[in-house]
Amino acid sequence: MPAPRVSDSRARPAALLGGPSSGLAGGLPARAGVGLKPRHFRDVLDTRPDIGFFEVHAENYMVDGGPFHHFLGRIGDLYPLSLHGVGLSIGAEGALDEAHLARLAGLIERYQPAAFSEHLAWSGHGGVFFNDLLPLPYDRATLARVCEHVERVQQRLKRRMLLENPATYVEFAASTMSETQFLSKVLQRTGCGLLLDVNNVHVSCTNHQRDAPAYIDALPLDAVGQIHLAGFASDTDAAGAPLLIDSHGAPVDEAVWRLYAAVVAQLGAVPTLLERDNDVPSLDTLVAEARRAEDIMAATVQPRRCDNDWVNS
Ligand SMILES: [Fe+2]
Repeated sequence: MPAPRVSDSRARPAALLGGPSSGLAGGLPARAGVGLKPRHFRDVLDTRPDIGFFEVHAENYMVDGGPFHHFLGRIGDLYPLSLHGVGLSIGAEGALDEAHLARLAGLIERYQPAAFSEHLAWSGHGGVFFNDLLPLPYDRATLARVCEHVERVQQRLKRRMLLENPATYVEFAASTMSETQFLSKVLQRTGCGLLLDVNNVHVSCTNHQRDAPAYIDALPLDAVGQIHLAGFASDTDAAGAPLLIDSHGAPVDEAVWRLYAAVVAQLGAVPTLLERDNDVPSLDTLVAEARRAEDIMAATVQPRRCDNDWVNS
């Protein structure tokens, strides 16, 4: 695949540009990145923070022109980009939306992102779109459908995609396998990579009263191509039990940092995205969180290359 475009060494120290231990050879660099928000466009260009990459939500750029494309083009010349989809509805009962897939292909052609990811979830049915990422029943029929959809995405986009574990609040009684079993089978059958959202693990495991480290241990961690970290909101359910909401509106919780450190201790450095979509703070604050992730990675023995190579080349 094309090398990530880093045309200005002020964006990152020379020691982190390329080389066998940088993790930059394929896919995202094994560093921390932050979500790119329009309010930070100018700050990024003016201050060029020392971070590994920026991630954008694909659907925010599905327009023909305008300032978003202007700034993303300029920032994409300076940093590797990760394209994160939130509207493909990979778990949908019907066929994938080919028009949506074509728009994704156009964005990938235009920006050549180092990674593309989507969620193990559904968000549309029968032409109706829900602004949410909804859970799936984990059974054989759903597994076949999700694998078919992931394979179609990879074929259409001509690249390996990363599939993200969801944050869930309810589960289907009809499921015949666990979420980790389901994810493992999708990864094995399609060859896609895993976007391990550590906050989602903590949120879901708290909500369903499961052991988060055991959940992570049950996943094929060799397939992890990227990690997400985010903050959650705390509530209680009708029975008074803890209910965590994947809000992306708070700093990363200490419990999530501990889980993250345990994963990194096992895997080495992994491209890590700090997600923040609500109550977005200053760019400096986000970069400081990214720095904490990099400090944790730096404490590990061996940086790890994450390979998001093209599928058909
Ligand atoms: Fe995420």
